Amino acid sequence: MKKKFLDLGRQPITNSFLNKNTIKKNRIKKEFFYNLSAGFNKKNYLVSIMNFVNPKKQYTNKYAHRASQSKTMNESFKKIATRLKKRFKPKKTLEIGSNDGVFIKNFKKDKVIAVEPCGNLAKITRQNNFKTYKDFWSQKLAKKILKNNNKVDLIYSANTISHIPNLSEVFKAVSLTLSKNGVFVFEDPYIGSVIKINSYDQFYDEHVHLFSLLSMLKILSKTDLSVFDVEIIKTHGGSIRFYVCKKNSNHKKTKNLKKLKLAETKQKLHKFSTYQRFSLRVKKSKKDLLNLLSKLKAKNKKIISYGATYKSTTVFNYCNIGKKFIDYVIDTTPNKQGKFTPGKHLPIISPEKGLDDNVDYAFLGAWNFEKEIVQKEKSFLKRGGKFIVHVPKVRII
Ligand code: TYD
Repeated sequence: MKKKFLDLGRQPITNSFLNKNTIKKNRIKKEFFYNLSAGFNKKNYLVSIMNFVNPKKQYTNKYAHRASQSKTMNESFKKIATRLKKRFKPKKTLEIGSNDGVFIKNFKKDKVIAVEPCGNLAKITRQNNFKTYKDFWSQKLAKKILKNNNKVDLIYSANTISHIPNLSEVFKAVSLTLSKNGVFVFEDPYIGSVIKINSYDQFYDEHVHLFSLLSMLKILSKTDLSVFDVEIIKTHGGSIRFYVCKKNSNHKKTKNLKKLKLAETKQKLHKFSTYQRFSLRVKKSKKDLLNLLSKLKAKNKKIISYGATYKSTTVFNYCNIGKKFIDYVIDTTPNKQGKFTPGKHLPIISPEKGLDDNVDYAFLGAWNFEKEIVQKEKSFLKRGGKFIVHVPKVRII
């Protein structure tokens, strides 16, 4: 059913940062790799990766990503929480994939339920006295929640639904949990933006699907839910936010739906050839990035990477960029520091230690925070330091 259009080669699990011991004792051989390729489903227009990794390998008690590490994300979750409260006035809200509580902290503790499978993250929201279910989202969990709670008016989820292979199970569980006029709002990286800005690094083990409106309309047509509003937002280099309700509820479809449907049809997101052309641009991006890094290294420039992102793991493993080009990676996340990047084993250190005066170039692994980082690192730029960014084209800033 899925037709392959992109091959990003042998890749590790993006969240599995290695520790010193593993590197020292040469236990690296055990590192898990799989083949990362993406395909297009001609029937429902859904773009997904071809081979799914077992979620139990991914969402562990050592999950590294902390959503509250970025000022941009804190602000954007606060903004959407305020908007949703104003628009839908929910008595009770539930979040699927609550991470470290960056969204739910904008709600009163007795008005929100958190669902999070990663033990280390669920512990944080529990310690902050939020009702937290440490589990994967499923009909079984929904039934368990409903034993102690009424149906909820708002379910929210950011960067989680696209991580779940079985979408039919997701929507059945949502349908069980939502009140009659309740809404399900979820946002994930947008395939329309990926195609537009060539951000092929949005493909990795966790991003099982990359949604379009056209694909979501097809998928939901088989359920008792429907999309009544949609937005394209700037988050993570372009995301899509769906507003979903029960088909028999009182929510009216907005004009945004028609507009985006038209735009996606124009962009040909329902045609396989669009993805084939994208795949050629990805190959060119790899060539351009390797050419640039080789040129800089020939001039003995010191290059580091800024942000130990999952996205940069895709780039480094696909382009075969290791210690030959990049000295180390800097990242503000405490539980990434002192570790090594998956696959290429580049050491990760704090920006305070790593962004020293000898750094000539920093590859912007966290390009989705370009504005925030350029603002923060004015002195690096002032003294002649430069950033390398690979989207929409390989360039120096
Ligand atoms: P994220 O945007 O979640 O990307 P991905 O989903 O691909 O991992 O991660 C951003 C990373 O960049 C995160 O580890 C924190 C780090 N970061 C910094 O080190 N400094 C910064 O100023 C910002 C904004 C992020």
